Amino acid sequence: MAAAPAYPDDPVDAIMPVMERAFDPEFGEAWNRRQVSDALLLGTCSYVLIGSDGQISRDLEGATAGFYLARKVLDEEELLLFAVDPALRGHGLGNALLDHFVASAEQRGAARVFLEMRRGNPAEHLYLRHGFRSIGVRPGYYRGHGGTRLDAVSFERSFA
Ligand SMILES: CC(C)(COP(=O)(O)OP(=O)(O)OC[C@H]1O[C@@H](n2cnc3c(N)ncnc32)[C@H](O)[C@@H]1OP(=O)(O)O)[C@@H](O)C(=O)NCCC(=O)NCCS
Repeated sequence: MAAAPAYPDDPVDAIMPVMERAFDPEFGEAWNRRQVSDALLLGTCSYVLIGSDGQISRDLEGATAGFYLARKVLDEEELLLFAVDPALRGHGLGNALLDHFVASAEQRGAARVFLEMRRGNPAEHLYLRHGFRSIGVRPGYYRGHGGTRLDAVSFERSFA
């Protein structure tokens, strides 16, 4: 019998190549394969993929250009990770993923959405444009290259 295709049985295979290219190791934001697998085993975590053509799906036929991971707890949803392949940036894929996250959470009845970002990440202007507001700082939350500690900024958008 022919081997089953890797997708959608193992979405981690679709996520990790983008993860490995998208995050600068300097900042310690990327997750390893085990962390992604473990998160997706939890019933509260989910993923979404985007193709280079902007198609958003959980089981793309072609290569994955970007993804997000999210967690739902009661009526709150958190964007855990969000990335687009560096070769495909600046074409609206990040914007489309963020739109999808916010709209899906609202449709599911979330009262609030959250995310955490390394202070100084250029993604900040995208978050502000999508109605997020900064609600606090977690000092030294990320461990960067060589053990440097980097602050996280928490953002929230409320649907109430
Ligand atoms: C944040 C991220 C997902 C944005 O992805 P993206 O596909 O470039 O997003 P968009 O194309 O929708 O662009 C977002 C904005 O950044 C600008 N931009 C981003 N990359 C660009 C590039 N390479 N060239 C030109 N403009 C770029 C866009 O012009 C746009 O701004 P504007 O709409 O005000 O003009 C991507 O930069 C990324 O993967 N970063 C590393 C991972 C990360 O830090 N994730 C967030 C924290 S978890």
